[in-house]
Amino acid sequence: METSIEVKDLTKNYGEITAVDHVNFEVRKGEIFGFLGPNGAGKTTTIRILTGVIKPNSGTAAIMGYSILKEPLKAKQIISVVPEMANAYIDLTAWQNLMLIGELYGVPKSKRQERAGYLLKEFGLYERRNHLARGFSKGMKQKLNFTLSESSS
Ligand SMILES: Nc1ncnc2c1ncn2[C@@H]1O[C@H](COP(=O)(O)OP(=O)(O)O)[C@@H](O)[C@H]1O
Ligand SMILES: [Mg+2]
Repeated sequence: METSIEVKDLTKNYGEITAVDHVNFEVRKGEIFGFLGPNGAGKTTTIRILTGVIKPNSGTAAIMGYSILKEPLKAKQIISVVPEMANAYIDLTAWQNLMLIGELYGVPKSKRQERAGYLLKEFGLYERRNHLARGFSKGMKQKLNFTLSESSS
């Protein structure tokens, strides 16, 4: 099966601290992969390397075959990230959040509405589209964040 994420000997040092120490793993296409470890194990640093926020000291990784070092733009174009901290605006409804992001990315209005409707239905939030994100459960907020990360693509 096709590999979607390949991580090879990834290492990141901050002075004396080795935040990521020769990490290797592979995620196949369609696979749901849990990357677990105690606090300070290097999970966030690994994700920051994979998303191109920081560079590793050694080792490399590829996203759908695109090297994060040699083809960082291509690798970044096909990644979506839902951070721990919510990024939906809690004073806006689910629908308004999606319209805002679409507008910021220059998606035409009819396309924005069509895409928002599709994503909200996919994630079971359509019935709640006119409710403020403030009242959403943590899981619903995460789903909304995911629809926001997908809304411009
Ligand atoms: N920018 C940084 N400067 C210095 N040390 C860092 C930095 N980022 C992470 N670290 C250190 O790297 C180690 C791994 O951190 P992190 O990747 O945040 O772990 P996790 O997300 O698994 O809890 C920790 O010891 C942390 O203090
Ligand atoms: Mg972390």
